[in-house]
Amino acid sequence: MDSTRTRIDPAEADLSDPLRSFRDRFELPEGVIYLDGNSLGALPKSVRQRVLNTIDKEWGVGLIRSWNTADWVHLPQRVGARIARILGAGEETVVAADSTSINLFKVLSAALDLNPGRSKIVSERENFPTDLYIAAGVAKQIGKGHRLVLSDGPGDIRGLLDEDVAVLMLTHVNYRTGYRHDMAALTRAAHDKGILVIWDLAHTAGAMPIDLAGADADFAIGCGYKYLNGGPGAPAFLYVNPRHHGGFRQPLSGWFGHRSPFDFDSSYAPSDNIEQYLCGTPPVLGMVAMDEAMALWDDVDMAAIRTKSIALCDLFIQEVSTFAEKFALGLVTPREPELRGSQVSYACENGYAIMQALIARGVIGDFRAPDIIRFGMTPLYLSFAEVERAAAILKDILETRAWEAPEFHVRGAVT
Ligand SMILES: Cc1ncc(COP(=O)(O)O)c(C=O)c1O
Repeated sequence: MDSTRTRIDPAEADLSDPLRSFRDRFELPEGVIYLDGNSLGALPKSVRQRVLNTIDKEWGVGLIRSWNTADWVHLPQRVGARIARILGAGEETVVAADSTSINLFKVLSAALDLNPGRSKIVSERENFPTDLYIAAGVAKQIGKGHRLVLSDGPGDIRGLLDEDVAVLMLTHVNYRTGYRHDMAALTRAAHDKGILVIWDLAHTAGAMPIDLAGADADFAIGCGYKYLNGGPGAPAFLYVNPRHHGGFRQPLSGWFGHRSPFDFDSSYAPSDNIEQYLCGTPPVLGMVAMDEAMALWDDVDMAAIRTKSIALCDLFIQEVSTFAEKFALGLVTPREPELRGSQVSYACENGYAIMQALIARGVIGDFRAPDIIRFGMTPLYLSFAEVERAAAILKDILETRAWEAPEFHVRGAVT
């Protein structure tokens, strides 16, 4: 930890934690220290009852009437409004729909359409692969010679922004390192060159307050299943700056994006607002789970989330720093809070096996090839005592070389 910052005492920090009571609103198995909420958030207790109610009453009894009586049909907008609040965006600028990859396809296609005559999409080599795959796919699909230009590091991005760049497409917090971009500054630098900006907020939403409207981002996308706790494969979200509403046409022109879907008109007339970014029938069970998970955020002070997130990361870095050098754990997450999200990552040899040994001891984090062990810090349900204990268990695993056991070297399909 930065020597200028004071040492964190876990017991004291837990006692004065204003978010402490939220832990009781989550199901967490006994004996587990869950440091993977940046990949799959924990289950909010209220979600089970809400989904059961949807199954038993709304589906079982209400049947098709529930599209109106339970307002299933507007779930994408209602959930979107709840997400908008924690993104610092206006209510009618966000919808919940599809996956992050699909939403990127929609907004990137629209952005390229809005900025014709330019051929480059700028991103980072270290961006999450699906973003790069989708961008390459969109460029090929459009077939007008668009190409993807990748920076080798965050410091190189500005130098790539020239008059031939149509879109800057970045993930705000890097999934591997936890490095966080300055959203407002980069958006401004891009706009100065006439470039539209798409932010992937997969590792941002629910991890810290942001001001999408203030940053004047053009588009944003992100996952519902990470810090937002919407459940495995939860609907993703999508934001469009109101200045682009009506001025675009996204290519997945399904009937839910039609101005009036139940007119059953044979020609497509796009909605002139955020609803155009919907495509087909919303997956109601997943949407309901997401809606209930988002209801919890109505009571959350996002500034407190960030303060605790910084302290949890600092504590973990502080504890691991006492043995990191001995075991060649290389901190790849910036120590400066303003440069990072809500995770701490280390590069190390045998990272996969070390993580499996941790999981066997109840400390659940994850591994990202080739050599990163990742620890996600979720302020809603993690205590400082748990973070201190997780570091102690990591130390023990390294000291005893417990990770050498053959069972920890067997790779699962998901790491
Ligand atoms: C930054 C980022 N973008 C996109 C995704 C994947 O999105 P999806 O699988 O919902 O399409 C992930 C998944 O971890 C991610 O970390």
